[in-house]
Amino acid sequence: MGAKEFGYGRRGGVKCLLPETQIIYDTPDALQAHTYINRGRPISPFPCPSLINSGKELGMAKQELVWFVTGASKGLGLALTKRILARGDRVVATARNPRALEPLLADPATDRTRIFVLELDVTSPAETVRDTVSKAVEHWGRVDVLVNNAGMGGGVGPSEEQGVEHMMEVMRTNYMGTLNVTHAFLPHMRERRSGTILLFGSRTAYRNEFVGPSAYAASKAAVHAYGETLRAELAPFNVRVSVVVPGYFDSGLALPLVGTPIADYDAAREELKKRVAMRDRLPNPGDPEKGMEAIVDVVRGEGRAASHAPGVLPTWLFLGGDCLGDVKARAEKLTQVVDAWKDVGSGLGKEDPAWF
Ligand SMILES: NC(=O)c1ccc[n+]([C@@H]2O[C@H](COP(=O)([O-])OP(=O)(O)OC[C@H]3O[C@@H](n4cnc5c(N)ncnc54)[C@H](OP(=O)(O)O)[C@@H]3O)[C@@H](O)[C@H]2O)c1
Repeated sequence: MGAKEFGYGRRGGVKCLLPETQIIYDTPDALQAHTYINRGRPISPFPCPSLINSGKELGMAKQELVWFVTGASKGLGLALTKRILARGDRVVATARNPRALEPLLADPATDRTRIFVLELDVTSPAETVRDTVSKAVEHWGRVDVLVNNAGMGGGVGPSEEQGVEHMMEVMRTNYMGTLNVTHAFLPHMRERRSGTILLFGSRTAYRNEFVGPSAYAASKAAVHAYGETLRAELAPFNVRVSVVVPGYFDSGLALPLVGTPIADYDAAREELKKRVAMRDRLPNPGDPEKGMEAIVDVVRGEGRAASHAPGVLPTWLFLGGDCLGDVKARAEKLTQVVDAWKDVGSGLGKEDPAWF
């Protein structure tokens, strides 16, 4: 799958979002005469926000942010896109299948001058991703906030049953995909000496000591480590980086049992099935709208985050009570293990006393 623009009009390099059509307009008259068609029904003259295509020319309010969201077709990405629009910001909503965004675009409550849709598979070749990012930046003259939301649950199963190919696919989407999109944005944000990058990790990176989640947990642990380092690397350029760590949010993220059964794991697999069924019956899962609203609050330093130092993002943004509990438990376990085994791990410096 490649990344290509989804339905925009063009005149002299100036683009307009045209959901549901791939028509390229050659003259402004043709463009203006066009009526936006929703499933065959004309619903309104099509607005063309990018006839003026830089943030400055658009006369954006000073505090107005331009977001770029991957995996905006459904789940948390779609919820975030809606929250961004509701707060008066602009969003480049990207999806493997942009048609999934049609209902949002057709909703009369959606201000279509604030949303620009592009097709993007985050596992596309780096060059294709860079091309999509250039189009996004060109549209409103800048992107302030990159949200690497796209990801796959990848299912669960004993690691050996999941197999190397499947585990690599999960890594390719969740980690390499995040890397791919982020790197395409780095020159833009470095040059502007401004920007915010969010990477979606998971509390599963901290709660994984049971049969089943290895592919997903490992891919998210990679995202965490990458984000933590990137944060230090980009701080001198005034680019903020934070790893968003959601607990369980009722988004529809699928957790099928995957892999080729191996008899030795039969009992473990049965336990895993019960665990997955329990997750689906949890009484109070996270609400995607509330979780995504919290993200907008933190990026903008408003609402729930208003009491925090302005402009400061946490290294990890832990979302949901289950996440907070699991991360604390992991932190305590790390401390316990360090203490319990320091007799073995310490005193190994060439010259004693070791640093520890
Ligand atoms: N929900 C949770 O409880 C939870 C917890 C922790 C972390 N997260 C993380 O939050 C993020 C969103 O998850 P979700 O719960 O909203 O899951 P979801 O409902 O399954 O949505 C996943 C999104 O990622 C997109 N995607 C998958 N592979 C892609 C690719 N190669 N290129 C572009 N887009 C791709 C999907 O697009 P398609 O529509 O084309 O499939 C979809 O838009 C993920 O990174 C996930 O790991 C979720």
